[in-house]
Amino acid sequence: KNIVILISGRGSNMEAIVRAQIPGARIAAVIANRPDAAGLAFAAAHAIPAIVVDHKAYPSREAFDAALAESIDALAPDLVVLAGFMRVLTDGFVARYAGRLLNIHPSLLPSFPGLHTHQRALEAGVRVHGTTVHFVTPTLDCGPIVVQAVVPVLSGDDETTLSARVLVQEHRIYPQAVRWFVEDRLTLTDTGRVQVRGEA
Ligand code: GRF
Repeated sequence: KNIVILISGRGSNMEAIVRAQIPGARIAAVIANRPDAAGLAFAAAHAIPAIVVDHKAYPSREAFDAALAESIDALAPDLVVLAGFMRVLTDGFVARYAGRLLNIHPSLLPSFPGLHTHQRALEAGVRVHGTTVHFVTPTLDCGPIVVQAVVPVLSGDDETTLSARVLVQEHRIYPQAVRWFVEDRLTLTDTGRVQVRGEA
C-alpha cells in the first residue's frame, strides 16, 4: 500500500510510522506545508521523497488544498496520514480522501478538540488524558475513532511532562492503526462506522 504522510513540524509521528517498517507499506512521500518543517530532514535521510507545498504561496485555503491534492494524487496513495499537520482542510479535500485519511489528535476525543489540549486537560483537572487516531471528516477532530491510548495525569504534571507521556503512546498507536489499514483490517463503513477486524 502506498502511503503519503503530511507534516507541519517535528514529524516524530511520521518517524515512528517509518521506523515501524510495516510489511506491505511503502511511504511514497512526506509532504510539508512549511519549508522549515524539521521532519523533512528525517524523510530525506531515509530516502523518502520530501515535498514542500508551502501554504503561504497560495491566495486561499481552496487554492492551497487544490495544490496539495495535486501533489498527493501524483503519488497515487492508498492512505493519507496527517501527522502533526496543522492546517484545517476544506470539505472538498476531506471528501476526496474519504475513508483513507487518518489523523492523530493529542487528547481523548471527544474531549478537547482543537489546540492546546495538554494545557486544557491540566486546567480541567482530568485524571486521565491521552491520544486518538481517527478518520478525518469535515468537522475538525470529530471523525470516527480508530484507536485511543490513555495515560494518567499525575500531580505535579505540567504541559511538558504530560505531552511527553502522551507522545510515547502516539508513537505506539499511530503505526498500529496504519498497520491495520495496510493489512486491510481497518475500514470506514458507508454509515461512518469504524471496523477493525482481528484487533490486536
Ligand atoms: C502530536 O502530538 C499530534 O497528536 C498533534 O501534533 C503533534 C505532532 O507531533 N496533531 P509530531 O510532529 O508528530 O512530532
